[in-house]
Amino acid sequence: MTKIKDIELGEFPLLLAPMEDVSDPPFRAVCKAGGADLMYTEFVSSEGLIRDAFKSRQKLDIFEYERPIGIQLFGSDIETMAECARITSAVSPDLIDINYGCPVKQVACRGAGAALLQDIPKMVKMTEAVVKATHLPVTVKTRLGWDDSTRNVEEVAERLQDIGIEALTIHGRTRVQMYKGDADWNLIGKIKDNPRIRIPIFGNGDIDSPEKALEYKNRYGVDGIMIGRASIGYPWIFNEIKHFLKTGEKLEAPTIADRVDVCRKHVEFSVRWKGERLGIVEMRRHYASYFKGIDGAKAFRNRLVQVPTLSEVEEILQEIAATYDAVPA
Ligand SMILES: Cc1cc2nc3c(=O)[nH]c(=O)nc-3n(C[C@H](O)[C@H](O)[C@H](O)COP(=O)(O)O)c2cc1C
Repeated sequence: MTKIKDIELGEFPLLLAPMEDVSDPPFRAVCKAGGADLMYTEFVSSEGLIRDAFKSRQKLDIFEYERPIGIQLFGSDIETMAECARITSAVSPDLIDINYGCPVKQVACRGAGAALLQDIPKMVKMTEAVVKATHLPVTVKTRLGWDDSTRNVEEVAERLQDIGIEALTIHGRTRVQMYKGDADWNLIGKIKDNPRIRIPIFGNGDIDSPEKALEYKNRYGVDGIMIGRASIGYPWIFNEIKHFLKTGEKLEAPTIADRVDVCRKHVEFSVRWKGERLGIVEMRRHYASYFKGIDGAKAFRNRLVQVPTLSEVEEILQEIAATYDAVPA
């Protein structure tokens, strides 16, 4: 049984990665139904939250059925992060996660996210301040290091565990790599082999099939796997991996009718959540993935990303279902 403090996550939990502009409540709803064992929000800017910016505040909205759920914070100022941990605790997520992995310039070049990998003493102080500011378990998500010459995640794991984090997720790339090249899980496996480490270690990076999940589970001995991009438009990935790990057999792929059904739920929630205009526009990034690899679906996708209303989207989805009528994807 993998546990983060008192949160029981099952034998080998599959985590939905925090993804800015993706892992909002509508997306999390389909991933929960798809079998995610622990979900994270998009990252929340501590500076934004302190200013009470609408976007940051809205990211604190969580639902009972989403539990267990973690809210992820990022920032460069220690006291601001601690204050945000207090604000975040008041909405009662199951845990608070700190982002020390974000590589994008607007974050890392302002001293937040992966930038803290270049200043371990500050990272330790920030983490300690957050741990002290909340009664909730604190977890951390980070990368292997800043660049190839400073792969310091082993030191990070020990020092952050020592000041009280309850789990660590490691994306097997450096900041400089951004999303390029293959994720390298060797250091993640080494941390799992370190007898000093007793908190759960979750591996992250490039898991996109049940076979790969099994291979990496066995090879690197992690306590669970976090999945990001492979879940976009394919929330079935969680249950497919779970089933494969349990039985060695592959689940049937979702039919096109299944894809239409889940995509419809997603877009309807999106519109309820954000209003029709924004809900429809923000949904557009998901269609290509929902209908990937389906012969002749491109024309439908092109139409889906152009129409401005929910009723038009629903009509096209109905057409897709009728056209393919339960053909396996
Ligand atoms: C669109 C997008 C947004 C992301 N936003 C965040 C974020 O808000 N916080 C974070 O820790 N990581 C973020 N990430 C990184 C993912 O959580 C994950 O570490 C990365 O995608 C590697 O996992 P994967 O290969 O399973 O996608 C984001 C990734 C993507 C593709």
